[in-house]
Amino acid sequence: MSMRVRRRRPPCPTSAVVVSSLNCAATPAACLLSALLTNCESEESGMAEGKSTEFKPRVIVFCCNWCAYAGADLAGVSRMKISPHFRVVRTMCSGRVDPELILQAFVNGADGVMVAGCHPGDCHYLEGNYRAMRRVAFLKKLLGSMGMDPERLELQWISAGEGVRFQEVVNAFVERIQGLGPNPFGPGANATPREAGSSRAAGEMEQPGV
Ligand code: FES
Repeated sequence: MSMRVRRRRPPCPTSAVVVSSLNCAATPAACLLSALLTNCESEESGMAEGKSTEFKPRVIVFCCNWCAYAGADLAGVSRMKISPHFRVVRTMCSGRVDPELILQAFVNGADGVMVAGCHPGDCHYLEGNYRAMRRVAFLKKLLGSMGMDPERLELQWISAGEGVRFQEVVNAFVERIQGLGPNPFGPGANATPREAGSSRAAGEMEQPGV
């Protein structure tokens, strides 16, 4: 008689990622991002079946639990009109978003990644958002040196009461990514040495609201 042994999946290495809608908090972060992007793609292909060949970007927004996520929630319950081309990953703090996780999102096919946290001075873990600021600046340089447009990565400060701001920054970011086109390093893409149309020098960063 053979017995089937059920293997437990390893825990999420970041311990910070929770995607309640997919009920997969216990999967590794890489799987989670991949699942999220696949979910994004399948929902959209279902909606647009046989209708349009227009590029639909896949954007990941890492939201800190205490401010940006609450802002996203407010935008949702207020029924604000937001682009359908993004998925939220909730983390406890923007400083908890590991650079590897951001790169993993791009490797898994995200066309753009936004990190959204509390305004400077408001981080519930004191300095997490300053850490996020340094990491995003570093990653922008890295992406630029790899030939990817650094504008595919964005850092924003959004408070719990700023539902309108969440709507505005996400819509503007999705529109920008739509203009940049598909991720040149995503699965199945033909990577080019340099992205065309990069208006900003590699690594040059705009500091939101500072
Ligand atoms: S708790 Fe929001 S950025 Fe740290």
